[in-house]
Amino acid sequence: MLKIAHRGAKAYEPENTLQAFQKALDLNSDGIELDVHLSSDGHIIVIHDETIDKMTNGKGAVNSFSLSELKSFLIDGKHEIPTLNEVFDLVDKKCFINIELKCRGAQQCVSSLIEEYISEKNWNYKHFIISSFDWIALQEIHNLNPKIPIGVLTETDLNLALAFAETIQAKAIHPYYHLLTEENTKQIQEKGFLVLPWTVNIEEDIQKVKSYNVNGIITDFPDKI
Ligand code: G3P
Ligand code: CA
Repeated sequence: MLKIAHRGAKAYEPENTLQAFQKALDLNSDGIELDVHLSSDGHIIVIHDETIDKMTNGKGAVNSFSLSELKSFLIDGKHEIPTLNEVFDLVDKKCFINIELKCRGAQQCVSSLIEEYISEKNWNYKHFIISSFDWIALQEIHNLNPKIPIGVLTETDLNLALAFAETIQAKAIHPYYHLLTEENTKQIQEKGFLVLPWTVNIEEDIQKVKSYNVNGIITDFPDKI
Protein backbone atom coordinates (compact mmCIF):
# COMPACT_ATOMS: atom_id res chain seq x y z
CA MET A 1 0.00 0.00 0.00
CA LEU A 2 1.83 3.10 -1.24
CA LYS A 3 1.48 6.18 0.93
CA ILE A 4 1.54 9.31 -1.16
CA ALA A 5 1.79 12.66 0.59
CA HIS A 6 -0.71 15.08 -0.93
CA ARG A 7 0.93 18.47 -1.74
CA GLY A 8 3.66 17.22 0.61
CA ALA A 9 2.51 16.27 4.08
CA LYS A 10 -0.13 18.98 3.84
CA ALA A 11 -1.58 18.25 7.26
CA TYR A 12 1.66 19.27 8.94
CA GLU A 13 3.37 21.93 6.81
CA PRO A 14 2.18 24.55 4.30
CA GLU A 15 1.20 22.72 1.12
CA ASN A 16 3.58 22.41 -1.82
CA THR A 17 6.58 23.85 0.08
CA LEU A 18 10.00 22.25 0.45
CA GLN A 19 9.18 21.92 4.16
CA ALA A 20 6.05 19.91 3.33
CA PHE A 21 8.02 17.62 1.03
CA GLN A 22 10.77 17.17 3.65
CA LYS A 23 8.09 16.28 6.19
CA ALA A 24 6.71 13.70 3.74
CA LEU A 25 10.18 12.16 3.47
CA ASP A 26 10.55 12.19 7.26
CA LEU A 27 7.26 10.26 7.48
CA ASN A 28 8.66 7.63 5.08
CA SER A 29 6.20 8.40 2.29
CA ASP A 30 6.57 6.26 -0.80
CA GLY A 31 5.62 9.20 -2.97
CA ILE A 32 4.74 12.86 -2.92
CA GLU A 33 2.01 14.55 -4.93
CA LEU A 34 2.42 18.16 -6.09
CA ASP A 35 0.80 20.66 -8.48
CA VAL A 36 2.53 22.66 -11.18
CA HIS A 37 2.04 25.87 -13.14
CA LEU A 38 4.42 27.86 -15.37
CA SER A 39 5.98 31.24 -14.59
CA SER A 40 5.97 33.95 -17.27
CA ASP A 41 9.58 33.04 -18.12
CA GLY A 42 8.88 29.33 -18.48
CA HIS A 43 9.95 27.87 -15.12
CA ILE A 44 7.92 25.06 -13.58
CA ILE A 45 6.41 26.38 -10.38
CA VAL A 46 5.02 24.14 -7.62
CA ILE A 47 1.75 25.65 -6.44
CA HIS A 48 -1.85 24.49 -6.50
CA ASP A 49 -3.86 27.54 -7.55
CA GLU A 50 -3.63 29.59 -10.75
CA THR A 51 -2.93 32.61 -8.56
CA ILE A 52 -0.61 33.25 -5.63
CA ASP A 53 -3.40 34.95 -3.65
CA LYS A 54 -4.28 32.15 -1.24
CA MET A 55 -0.78 30.96 -0.39
CA THR A 56 1.45 34.05 -0.40
CA ASN A 57 1.59 37.70 0.58
CA GLY A 58 1.20 38.65 -3.10
CA LYS A 59 -1.64 38.80 -5.56
CA GLY A 60 -1.92 37.81 -9.20
CA ALA A 61 -1.71 34.94 -11.65
CA VAL A 62 1.32 32.63 -11.35
CA ASN A 63 1.93 32.93 -15.09
CA SER A 64 2.04 36.73 -14.92
CA PHE A 65 5.24 36.69 -12.82
CA SER A 66 8.82 35.69 -13.64
CA LEU A 67 10.59 33.20 -11.41
CA SER A 68 12.53 35.93 -9.60
CA GLU A 69 9.32 37.86 -8.97
CA LEU A 70 7.60 34.74 -7.65
CA LYS A 71 10.55 34.13 -5.32
CA SER A 72 9.94 37.51 -3.67
CA PHE A 73 6.52 36.41 -2.38
CA LEU A 74 6.46 34.32 0.78
CA ILE A 75 4.22 31.60 2.17
CA ASP A 76 3.48 32.14 5.87
CA GLY A 77 6.08 34.89 5.84
CA LYS A 78 9.02 32.49 5.48
CA HIS A 79 8.68 29.83 2.76
CA GLU A 80 9.48 30.49 -0.90
CA ILE A 81 7.35 29.01 -3.66
CA PRO A 82 9.51 26.13 -4.94
CA THR A 83 10.35 25.21 -8.50
CA LEU A 84 10.00 21.62 -9.66
CA ASN A 85 13.81 21.35 -9.95
CA GLU A 86 14.16 22.33 -6.29
CA VAL A 87 11.71 19.61 -5.26
CA PHE A 88 13.53 17.02 -7.39
CA ASP A 89 16.84 18.01 -5.75
CA LEU A 90 15.35 17.81 -2.26
CA VAL A 91 13.72 14.42 -2.89
CA ASP A 92 16.82 13.06 -4.62
CA LYS A 93 15.20 9.69 -5.52
CA LYS A 94 14.14 8.97 -1.93
CA CYS A 95 10.54 8.55 -3.12
CA PHE A 96 8.57 8.91 -6.35
CA ILE A 97 7.02 12.20 -7.44
CA ASN A 98 3.45 12.52 -8.70
CA ILE A 99 3.40 15.72 -10.76
CA GLU A 100 -0.12 17.01 -11.33
CA LEU A 101 -0.32 19.32 -14.35
CA LYS A 102 -2.61 22.20 -13.39
CA CYS A 103 -2.06 24.30 -16.50
CA ARG A 104 -2.04 23.64 -20.22
CA GLY A 105 1.38 24.27 -21.74
CA ALA A 106 3.75 22.76 -19.16
CA GLN A 107 3.93 19.36 -20.87
CA GLN A 108 7.13 19.97 -22.85
CA CYS A 109 8.97 21.57 -19.89
CA VAL A 110 7.98 18.81 -17.46
CA SER A 111 8.82 16.04 -19.88
CA SER A 112 12.22 17.62 -20.65
CA LEU A 113 13.02 18.04 -16.96
CA ILE A 114 12.21 14.39 -16.28
CA GLU A 115 14.42 13.34 -19.19
CA GLU A 116 17.24 15.55 -17.88
CA TYR A 117 17.13 13.95 -14.41
CA ILE A 118 17.03 10.47 -15.94
CA SER A 119 19.90 11.02 -18.36
CA GLU A 120 22.13 13.21 -16.18
CA LYS A 121 21.30 12.42 -12.56
CA ASN A 122 20.65 8.71 -12.58
CA TRP A 123 16.92 8.94 -11.93
CA ASN A 124 14.56 6.37 -13.40
CA TYR A 125 11.07 6.56 -14.92
CA LYS A 126 9.78 4.76 -11.83
CA HIS A 127 10.56 7.93 -9.85
CA PHE A 128 7.83 9.85 -11.70
CA ILE A 129 4.15 9.76 -12.47
CA ILE A 130 2.37 12.60 -14.23
CA SER A 131 -1.33 13.08 -13.56
CA SER A 132 -3.96 15.58 -14.63
CA PHE A 133 -7.67 16.13 -14.96
CA ASP A 134 -6.72 17.58 -18.35
CA TRP A 135 -6.54 14.44 -20.44
CA ILE A 136 -5.43 16.34 -23.55
CA ALA A 137 -2.31 17.34 -21.59
CA LEU A 138 -1.80 13.67 -20.63
CA GLN A 139 -2.19 12.63 -24.27
CA GLU A 140 0.52 15.16 -25.17
CA ILE A 141 2.85 13.80 -22.49
CA HIS A 142 2.34 10.32 -23.91
CA ASN A 143 3.07 11.61 -27.42
CA LEU A 144 6.21 13.41 -26.21
CA ASN A 145 7.59 10.39 -24.38
CA PRO A 146 5.54 7.19 -23.99
CA LYS A 147 7.92 5.94 -21.28
CA ILE A 148 6.77 8.56 -18.78
CA PRO A 149 4.29 6.92 -16.37
CA ILE A 150 0.85 8.52 -16.42
CA GLY A 151 -1.97 8.58 -13.86
CA VAL A 152 -5.42 9.47 -15.19
CA LEU A 153 -7.25 11.70 -12.72
CA THR A 154 -11.02 11.56 -12.51
CA GLU A 155 -13.57 13.06 -10.20
CA THR A 156 -16.66 11.76 -11.98
CA ASP A 157 -16.38 8.89 -14.43
CA LEU A 158 -14.28 5.79 -13.81
CA ASN A 159 -15.31 4.03 -17.02
CA LEU A 160 -14.32 6.96 -19.18
CA ALA A 161 -11.00 7.26 -17.29
CA LEU A 162 -10.38 3.56 -17.81
CA ALA A 163 -11.09 3.76 -21.53
CA PHE A 164 -8.75 6.74 -21.88
CA ALA A 165 -6.06 5.05 -19.74
CA GLU A 166 -6.09 2.12 -22.17
CA THR A 167 -5.51 4.38 -25.17
CA ILE A 168 -2.37 5.94 -23.64
CA GLN A 169 -1.16 2.84 -21.75
CA ALA A 170 -1.35 4.72 -18.46
CA LYS A 171 0.19 3.28 -15.31
CA ALA A 172 -2.59 4.24 -12.92
CA ILE A 173 -6.07 5.61 -12.42
CA HIS A 174 -6.31 8.34 -9.77
CA PRO A 175 -10.00 8.42 -8.81
CA TYR A 176 -11.83 10.54 -6.32
CA TYR A 177 -12.09 7.92 -3.59
CA HIS A 178 -15.91 8.05 -3.34
CA LEU A 179 -16.07 6.54 -6.86
CA LEU A 180 -14.45 3.31 -5.69
CA THR A 181 -15.93 0.00 -4.64
CA GLU A 182 -14.18 -3.28 -3.98
CA GLU A 183 -15.52 -4.58 -7.28
CA ASN A 184 -14.50 -1.70 -9.55
CA THR A 185 -11.08 -1.50 -7.85
CA LYS A 186 -10.51 -5.14 -8.80
CA GLN A 187 -11.76 -4.56 -12.36
CA ILE A 188 -9.34 -1.67 -12.86
CA GLN A 189 -6.44 -3.70 -11.46
CA GLU A 190 -7.32 -6.67 -13.67
CA LYS A 191 -6.86 -4.39 -16.67
CA GLY A 192 -3.34 -3.71 -15.43
CA PHE A 193 -3.66 -0.29 -13.83
CA LEU A 194 -2.76 0.80 -10.32
CA VAL A 195 -5.58 2.39 -8.31
CA LEU A 196 -4.42 5.49 -6.41
CA PRO A 197 -7.40 7.32 -4.85
CA TRP A 198 -7.30 10.89 -3.49
CA THR A 199 -7.53 12.65 -1.07
CA VAL A 200 -8.29 10.22 1.72
CA ASN A 201 -7.82 11.80 5.13
CA ILE A 202 -10.45 10.43 7.50
CA GLU A 203 -9.59 7.21 9.34
CA GLU A 204 -12.86 5.52 8.39
CA ASP A 205 -12.36 6.31 4.70
CA ILE A 206 -8.74 5.15 4.84
CA GLN A 207 -9.86 1.81 6.26
CA LYS A 208 -12.57 1.53 3.61
CA VAL A 209 -10.26 2.05 0.61
CA LYS A 210 -7.64 -0.18 2.23
CA SER A 211 -10.25 -2.93 2.39
CA TYR A 212 -10.69 -2.55 -1.40
CA ASN A 213 -6.97 -3.35 -1.75
CA VAL A 214 -6.13 -0.16 -3.60
CA ASN A 215 -2.47 0.11 -4.58
CA GLY A 216 -1.86 3.35 -2.75
CA ILE A 217 -3.52 6.30 -1.07
CA ILE A 218 -2.99 10.00 -1.70
CA THR A 219 -3.43 11.70 1.66
CA ASP A 220 -2.57 14.78 3.71
CA PHE A 221 -1.65 12.37 6.55
CA PRO A 222 0.89 9.85 5.23
CA ASP A 223 1.52 8.72 8.79
CA LYS A 224 -2.11 7.49 9.03
CA ILE A 225 -1.75 4.98 6.20
O1 G3P B 1 -3.94 14.37 -7.30
C1 G3P B 1 -5.13 14.32 -6.64
C2 G3P B 1 -5.57 15.60 -6.03
O2 G3P B 1 -4.44 16.34 -5.70
C3 G3P B 1 -6.46 16.40 -6.93
O3 G3P B 1 -7.05 17.48 -6.30
O4 G3P B 1 -7.30 19.88 -5.88
O5 G3P B 1 -5.84 18.54 -4.41
O6 G3P B 1 -5.14 19.07 -6.73
P1 G3P B 1 -6.29 18.80 -5.81
CA1 CA C 1 -3.09 17.93 -6.76
